[in-house]
Order: sequence, then structure tokens, then C-alpha cells
Amino acid sequence: MKDFEKLSRIHFNNQAKDYDSKDTIYYSKEGKISCVDIQKYLENVPFERLLDVGCGTGFLIDNLAKERDAEYYGLDLSEKMIEIAKSKNIKGAEFVRGSANMLPYDDESFDVVTCVQSFHHYPYPDEAMKEVYRVLKKGGVYILSDTGLDGIGAWIDNHIIFPLMNSGDCNVSGIKGISSRMKNNGFKVLDAWKVKGFIYTVVSKK
Ligand SMILES: C[S@@+](CC[C@H](N)C(=O)[O-])C[C@H]1O[C@@H](n2cnc3c(N)ncnc32)[C@H](O)[C@@H]1O
Repeated sequence: MKDFEKLSRIHFNNQAKDYDSKDTIYYSKEGKISCVDIQKYLENVPFERLLDVGCGTGFLIDNLAKERDAEYYGLDLSEKMIEIAKSKNIKGAEFVRGSANMLPYDDESFDVVTCVQSFHHYPYPDEAMKEVYRVLKKGGVYILSDTGLDGIGAWIDNHIIFPLMNSGDCNVSGIKGISSRMKNNGFKVLDAWKVKGFIYTVVSKK
């Protein structure tokens, strides 16, 4: 198997400088659509500590922090994306380089964990979900927004298209696949919807 984490890290290190200003389908644009969707959902969710896994340049945290005070944490595999997130000097935010498989946070320490347009890069998706489960408080909310299909579409991407690419994409699924993975990892799925095209959001609770 390719080293997808290494490929993602290189890919996003190369994207970092232009990431915020780009508006192409596969980079900022989809992230931004998902970020705006999550931000809207969170308007009705109380939280004091929020973690964004695969936070990139901190787009979601930056927007949330402008609206409400909380402790914000962002983690990303790409040191260059993290450098940009840190350079924004977002109030109440701490950013760290790391992998979704091994979150450097205490058990039951977050009210909300978000993951935006990042999960399809995780070669160990169950490990990543188990880590979210571990760091979420009981009753805490997990919001995952991504782009992908279920069924044959996912199979073709994951087994034929992605092995030919070097961007670290390795594991897409749609609402059905993500919801059942969440359930298998102990979460209770609360809601799920299509945002636009193949972009969707799934919300669950520990
Ligand atoms: C398409 S970008 C999305 C960034 C941000 N969430 C947004 O919406 O703008 C995907 C991000 O996931 C990060 N990523 C990929 N694999 C990861 C992993 N295993 N652990 C943590 N972050 C990862 C990449 O470095 C990249 O910054």
C-alpha cells in the first residue's frame, strides 16, 4: 500500500501557500462550502472546547473564533498548512502538526470535534474515528463534512482512481458509508444531509 499520509503531507505542504486564495473544485472551494455549512450548524450547539481534525490553514476555526469565544484546537498533518494557521493569530486557538490516528489530547476533553474535507485522506479511518471518540466528552458532537459517493462510485475511486494519484486521497465514502462507520465506532448518528453535489455533512454524538 502507498504511504498515503506521506503523500497527503507533501501534497498539502505544496498547496499551503495558495490554499486560502484558491477556489478550485478540489481545494479551498469545497472546504469553504463545508466550513460554512458546519459553522451554521454550530450556531445552535453550545461548546467551550472545539477540535478541528485536518484543520488545514484554520479557515473554520478563524471564522468560528470571530463569532464566539471558546478554546479552539486545530491539528493537521501538513506543517506548512499549520504554519499558515498559526500566522493568523486567531484568538483562543492552538494549532499543532499531527496525525488524525494519534490525537495528542486527553480523553473526554472536547465538546465538539469537526473534520472538514479531510477524512478521505485517512488510510486508517477506524483508528481516526476511535481517536475522536476517545477525546470527545460524553454527549459531545462529531461533525464530519466531506466529498464522496457510496457504493460502486466509492469503490472505483478507492481502488482504481486514487492508486494512480499522488495527492494522498485514499478512502472516500458518502453519507451511508460514513454514518455506518460512525455507528460501528460507538457514535449515535443525529443528522446527515447533502450540502451540494457530492459534498455532505454527517453529525453524530458520543
Ligand atoms: C482539503 S484539506 C482541508 C483543510 C481544511 N479542513 C479546510 O476545510 O479548509 C485536507 C487537509 O487534511 C489534512 N490531512 C490529510 N491527512 C491527514 C491525517 N492523516 N491527519 C491529519 N490531517 C490530515 C491535509 O494536510 C489537509 O490540510
